[in-house]
Amino acid sequence: MAGRDRARFVCQACGAVTAKWAGRCEACGAWNTLAEEIAAPKPGALARPKTVARGIDLVGLLGTSEPPPRLMSGIAEFDRVLGGGLVAGSAVLVGGDPGIGKSTLMLQAASRLAGNGQSVIYITGEESIEQVRLRARRLGLEQAPLALAAASHLPDIAATLETRPGLGLVVIDSIQTMWLDAFDAVPGTLTQVRAAGFELVRLAKTLGFALVLVGHVTKDGAIAGPRVLEHMVDAVLYFEGERGHQFRILRGVKNRFGATDEIGVFEMTDHGLAEVANPSALFLAERRGHVAGSAVFAGIEGTRPVLLEIQALLAPNAGGTPRRAVLGWDAGRLAMLLAVLETRCGLRLAGNDVHLNIAGGLRITEPAADLAVAAALVSAASETPASPDTVYFGEVGLSGEIRQVALAEARLREAAKLGFARACLPRRLARGAKRLVPPEGLQLQEIGHLGDLLAGFAVSGAGRKPRREAE
Ligand code: TYD
Ligand code: MG
Repeated sequence: MAGRDRARFVCQACGAVTAKWAGRCEACGAWNTLAEEIAAPKPGALARPKTVARGIDLVGLLGTSEPPPRLMSGIAEFDRVLGGGLVAGSAVLVGGDPGIGKSTLMLQAASRLAGNGQSVIYITGEESIEQVRLRARRLGLEQAPLALAAASHLPDIAATLETRPGLGLVVIDSIQTMWLDAFDAVPGTLTQVRAAGFELVRLAKTLGFALVLVGHVTKDGAIAGPRVLEHMVDAVLYFEGERGHQFRILRGVKNRFGATDEIGVFEMTDHGLAEVANPSALFLAERRGHVAGSAVFAGIEGTRPVLLEIQALLAPNAGGTPRRAVLGWDAGRLAMLLAVLETRCGLRLAGNDVHLNIAGGLRITEPAADLAVAAALVSAASETPASPDTVYFGEVGLSGEIRQVALAEARLREAAKLGFARACLPRRLARGAKRLVPPEGLQLQEIGHLGDLLAGFAVSGAGRKPRREAE
């Protein structure tokens, strides 16, 4: 340590540090993520007075801590994903692709909170004051009493925040633009993002304001650079959606103050983001009945039932390896389902390209979608439309058995609410199973095996080998 800054290379994806540059990070396997960063802070730059260690207080588990105060924005979809509003003194990371609408969402939420009497500061490091004002005017929010600043040098920002008692919310748009002169690295590098994030989270905790960090996400889903940031904050929300689709999903992936996997659904309009209180209706809006290869899945997103259309298309393969293209679902699960349909039900699909799509661009991860995907595939293979007033849900096992999934009642209620007449679902095993009472107007078709599903379709000679033959 002869006072010489040593160059080191930091993986911008996972934060691993190496002495030598390499094309691929050894720790996480990502390519082209190593960037040179100077290890040591500039001499004297971090000269904080040394504090005297004075010990820590130890307490028992039993106590009378009040639940932390919440700031409700009044945008129900936003508040719900947070588990009931922003928590004072906590930090939230809002990630998403550039251009997806993060700044719009946060300006709307911040304006609502300011309008409700909270003291709100919105700091933009990406846009000019004029650009933010223009957006506010377009959204009809220019009267909202929030304080705006275009800044990116964190010590300056901290100095201002510290002089403002009673702050309710601070929005930093985006964390990638923030920098501290204590470090030589350029803004957006892991070193700067981590240092700026840490400092802001510390300020939020000591001053008691709710902090929202906006962060950009890379294509593979990681927030560029600050994976480390995810550990630092109390909640991580992703704002996602397909370009070209008008709706946007706010998805909770981590939340110390509420449930994760909760989603909020918004629709993009000329006047900003509008809440969608009934997402099923939106997702099913463009559905055409009586088309082969389409089935409606009664899913659960977080705590809320959502109905979605699943579309399958089989196309004859022109030669070579058949394609399996999946949008919005897991490719591995599709492969498994195809294998089960072939070996357990004798449905021949091997010579076909298979395309699967969750209509509307939503991404689902629930195994409960298996049965609906199977229905779409069987319908496509048999060129028989699935009954348009039926919803499907259930997990499919490797022997073709249909397994129970959670929250069946909630799924059925949603289906009934949207006017569906039938639900195809796993058969309740007698042992200990509570009887399902279907909502009025909904007829249940309980099945135990995928073969029962196939029986409902007029399977033409095109694909299926009868089950008897296979046995
Ligand atoms: P923006 O909020 O700037 O995205 P991000 O901060 O994630 O990069 O929004 C991108 C563009 O989309 C912007 O030009 C405004 C437009 N937009 C609308 O017109 N209506 C909307 O409801 C939203 C969310 C965005
Ligand atoms: Mg933005």
